Amino acid sequence: MTKVIHLIAAARPNFMKIAPLYHALSKQDWCTAKIIHTGQHYDANMSDSIFEDLMLPKPHYHLGVGGGTHAYQVGNVMIAYEKICLEQERPDLLVVVGDVNSTAACAQVGAKLHIPVAHLEAGLRSGDRRMPEEINRLVTDAISDYLWTPSPDADENLRKEGHPDSRIQRVGNIMMDSFELLRERIERENAPAQFGLTPGKYGVVTMHRPSNVDEEATLTSLMEQIMAVAAKVELLFAVHPRTRKNLEKFGLWDRLAATSGLHLTEPVSYAPFMSLVKDAKLIITDSGGIQEETTYLGIPCLTLRENTERPVTVTEGTNRLVPTAELQQNVEKVLAGTWITGTKPNFWDGKTADRIVEIIQRMFLEN
Ligand code: UD1
Repeated sequence: MTKVIHLIAAARPNFMKIAPLYHALSKQDWCTAKIIHTGQHYDANMSDSIFEDLMLPKPHYHLGVGGGTHAYQVGNVMIAYEKICLEQERPDLLVVVGDVNSTAACAQVGAKLHIPVAHLEAGLRSGDRRMPEEINRLVTDAISDYLWTPSPDADENLRKEGHPDSRIQRVGNIMMDSFELLRERIERENAPAQFGLTPGKYGVVTMHRPSNVDEEATLTSLMEQIMAVAAKVELLFAVHPRTRKNLEKFGLWDRLAATSGLHLTEPVSYAPFMSLVKDAKLIITDSGGIQEETTYLGIPCLTLRENTERPVTVTEGTNRLVPTAELQQNVEKVLAGTWITGTKPNFWDGKTADRIVEIIQRMFLEN
């Protein structure tokens, strides 16, 4: 009998984590992988176009939950996914990825129905419980049966929290598998030219964390810094829907749009976005995934946060945490060619999905 494996996809950063695993599992004859899209992200350019880039099929189940408060999202994802497990199909294994609300919601459904749960990207900790993602990471790891980690710091965090070694497996960073899977397409994409940018001469900006974009004073001072940087190096700002709503609400959108050297655009799909990152002089971001992708590609990354759950990008990679007030002097360092050079962390090699397939197969044989 083939084993059914559910892969939960919910929000933009999840899609590049499930795609390599879906493709690797689909080649096996002992299992059937199915994609469950919770609908947390629903705009075409936050979801559909990324699915297409990653060559993913239409989700096998779509829960259509949409936006809302944390309780609304977690509650509705739990209700909808529990229904699938009880009425349509009970999987033999549930794989949740990353740290979004749907990750913690589906892990809870699986754990309570005694379905084995694996967490891919387990063990990351920012130490900052004001971040909703940190709560999601803690909850998900606490109740998952298998903890698949990307880096040694993650293993260490899990051990400190009392997770036994038998549950922890270092598999590497699956996002790098997505990059390698699409490398040729990304190289052909030539996205900078499509935005009128010259390779090596521009920066890319992304910003969406509630702690940066929800408060008027914080967002205003951040945007003033970005406008000042645009006078020194051309910037492309791919604006997340949460950020756009707030920029419009606080009257900042028109000021940004009128700033020369600053180009505003909708969120960009995976392949063109990686093409933009690969050829950039620098990246200014508060994203988690982009801190890792820039380390992989050796591109300077200026992270506008006080902490990171991905410390290996700072200790080994090209990432630095930068206070808003120090953004300009850090940009100067990049432009002067004095930014740090990094190395690729161990197991960030495009082979994470293969390692996971082996682990799952062994797990089914043993049980
Ligand atoms: C979520 C994740 C975050 C991740 C981010 C990537 C949680 C707690 N947060 O944050 O970890 O880094 O995704 O983007 O799970 N919206 C749209 N269209 C969309 C998606 C969202 O208009 O396709 C709007 C929502 O209606 C809402 C806002 O954007 O007003 C925020 O969406 P939400 O999914 O709640 O959180 P994100 O900020 O995207």
